[in-house]
Amino acid sequence: MSEIYAMRAEEPGGPEVLRRVAIDRPVPGPGELLIRHTAIGLNFIDVYFRTGTYPWPPGPGLVTGSEGAGVVEAIGPGVTGIEPGQRIAYTVPNGAYATHRILPAAMAVPLPDDIPDRIAAAVMLKGLTAHYLIHHSYPAQPGETVLVHAAAGGVGLIAGQWLALRGVRAIGTAGGPEKCALAAAHGYAETIDYKATDFAAEVTRLTGGTGVAAVYDSIGADTVLRSLDCLATFGTLVMFGQSSGAPDQFRISHLARGSLRLTRPTLFHHAARRDWLLEASAEMFALIRSGGLKIRIDRDLPLAEVAQAHRLLESRQTTGSSVLIP
Ligand SMILES: NC(=O)c1ccc[n+]([C@@H]2O[C@H](COP(=O)([O-])OP(=O)(O)OC[C@H]3O[C@@H](n4cnc5c(N)ncnc54)[C@H](OP(=O)(O)O)[C@@H]3O)[C@@H](O)[C@H]2O)c1
Repeated sequence: MSEIYAMRAEEPGGPEVLRRVAIDRPVPGPGELLIRHTAIGLNFIDVYFRTGTYPWPPGPGLVTGSEGAGVVEAIGPGVTGIEPGQRIAYTVPNGAYATHRILPAAMAVPLPDDIPDRIAAAVMLKGLTAHYLIHHSYPAQPGETVLVHAAAGGVGLIAGQWLALRGVRAIGTAGGPEKCALAAAHGYAETIDYKATDFAAEVTRLTGGTGVAAVYDSIGADTVLRSLDCLATFGTLVMFGQSSGAPDQFRISHLARGSLRLTRPTLFHHAARRDWLLEASAEMFALIRSGGLKIRIDRDLPLAEVAQAHRLLESRQTTGSSVLIP
């Protein structure tokens, strides 16, 4: 039998802290499943956990990774409706960088036969995030114009397509002309290279001075104040990440300039509601099946090389989703 292992950090730090350690085959407790991963998603939240930006749960070291797909190898007492041998996918905070893991059965989403494991591992966190952002955090309406930062990234490429399907005019920012072209091929009506251009000035121009109904901002420190400048009166800032650092310059008084709204949502609050998790996943799988959502997997990397995957993600060298293969 091949080795059961995890990529574990013993202390917060750079990508090099992610080291391979042999682990015992986990045993599921009541209400739990033992999963053998076939594919694991890479996400920016993994970087926040690795560096200690987000606090670690108690325990020796940290196995991060918050998205995956695989096969149920065993079920714990009291689990109903899920059988050993079944394919599932999930998103929960941490524990995914391993060949095997324990998962609460309530977080498992059964996979339809026509949704490949790699695709599922690429979309459970990123796609469900795009779903709640545009249906719940700010439910963009047909004909409205919104702005999405990091439009060529994992969440960004999915959000652009989903907004276009809803009839929303999405403007996307991305770092460089190639990323802008990729975003334009994934639903964005207009793109702005925010490395080369003042994006707020460009949004003002593109909206005839009105501004956008919402900004979906995952960049944080580098963009927060200029994102506010992009908003129309009564507009909404959806601040859902901080890939450039915490947006600590923000003050509540900044909202007064346009009676603006601010929300700071997290996927895991949505995914904890099982009815939403199953319905949103089914909707996403249906759109993937119909071709309405195309999932771009930029690269597959062996799980053991996850440190390299982190280096690429942090240095802005990835587009779309990346998948780790155990
Ligand atoms: N709150 C939630 O529920 C939730 C859920 C999922 C993801 N998120 C957040 O959404 C964002 C996107 O996540 P993702 O996994 O799909 O990552 P991603 O967008 O594929 O990668 C991050 C992108 O951010 C841009 N970026 C701008 N400044 C950066 C900097 N200083 N360092 C690194 N990247 C920078 C880069 O694109 P450019 O080169 O084009 O600028 C980079 O490719 C992250 O901030 C993540 O934390 C939040």
